[in-house]
Amino acid sequence: MREHIEGAVQVVANNNLKFDRPQQPIGALPDPAETFGHVHKAQPQPPTKEVLDKLNAPEIKERCADLLSRYPEGQGALLEVLWLVQGVFGWVPTEGIRWAANVCGCAPAHALGVATFYTMYNHAPKGKFLLQFCRNISCAIKGAQPLIKYVENKLGIKSGETTPDGMFTILQVECLGSCGNGPMMLVNDDFATDVVDGELKMKRGTTLTEASIDRIVDWCKAHANNVPKHDVLGGIVKGHCGHPGAPGATAKPQVNDYAPPSPVLCVKAEADETGATLTWKGAPEFTKIVVEKKNGSEWVAVGEPGVKDKAFVDAAGKVGDEYRMIATSGERVAKPSAVAVTTQKPAPVEEKKV
Ligand code: FES
Repeated sequence: MREHIEGAVQVVANNNLKFDRPQQPIGALPDPAETFGHVHKAQPQPPTKEVLDKLNAPEIKERCADLLSRYPEGQGALLEVLWLVQGVFGWVPTEGIRWAANVCGCAPAHALGVATFYTMYNHAPKGKFLLQFCRNISCAIKGAQPLIKYVENKLGIKSGETTPDGMFTILQVECLGSCGNGPMMLVNDDFATDVVDGELKMKRGTTLTEASIDRIVDWCKAHANNVPKHDVLGGIVKGHCGHPGAPGATAKPQVNDYAPPSPVLCVKAEADETGATLTWKGAPEFTKIVVEKKNGSEWVAVGEPGVKDKAFVDAAGKVGDEYRMIATSGERVAKPSAVAVTTQKPAPVEEKKV
């Protein structure tokens, strides 16, 4: 062992290697658009002031505060904060990555690593219509590659490129989570296998074909001046795009029996001589909250606090009682929170008189 260590030290010394180089600021790192960017086009970065002015707008800050409140560590919100940045610019400028790192309290290099890992983040502006084709195993078996070649030939660009008129960008991505309907594609944020009644649809029982791609491309061209608009908050809040289950999202699921995830509250229960006090954390967009208490093997509703309330008191509650809360947001079907077992409320700390 000693020989190995001495040998390694010698190699380092002989080659003049150092492991204690000063940290580089993010600005000195290679431009991600020139290296890993999934939309492969080197892009001049917008001025720092322009980026910060847009990102420091009150509605963006408010949204960030909400996102950060959902995670125990700020870093947990990094994906969504980067998504906000992309919602504002349509792509993630380097300064936006640094801003997101600052908001989430993590290293800029970490945020850069995250932003360049996922294909959903663009490092250069994309076309009005981003056509993302799944290249993963199920779609490949069902003929994705010939269709991708067909679109590339039809539009005269390769995957990762944008048409000169800025209309279309083609990307090949990993599984889109709709393997049973493959070969699968997204047009911006929506699945599409065909045009039905004048709208892009993922129609059950149909699959993407050269003919349906022709119809989809024609539909896009016809809607070039009326592209479904991305909300300034990345489509997460109230834009056309974004996950239909996201709080406040107005996008409708395209499949009737699709069940979006429900809003979930993080509940804490503490008891003292006044009863059990429940407090909770979660998104502020709930329209109704119900508190339930375990009674034997049954859950019994014991109250309905206002959506703006910060706490709920069950005067009959005591240590060991189990509670859960069910939050509803708009049309979304609510699911119960994790069960909160009531613990003893700590005695208030008395201030020492000087
Ligand atoms: S493999 Fe293509 S959507 Fe899953």
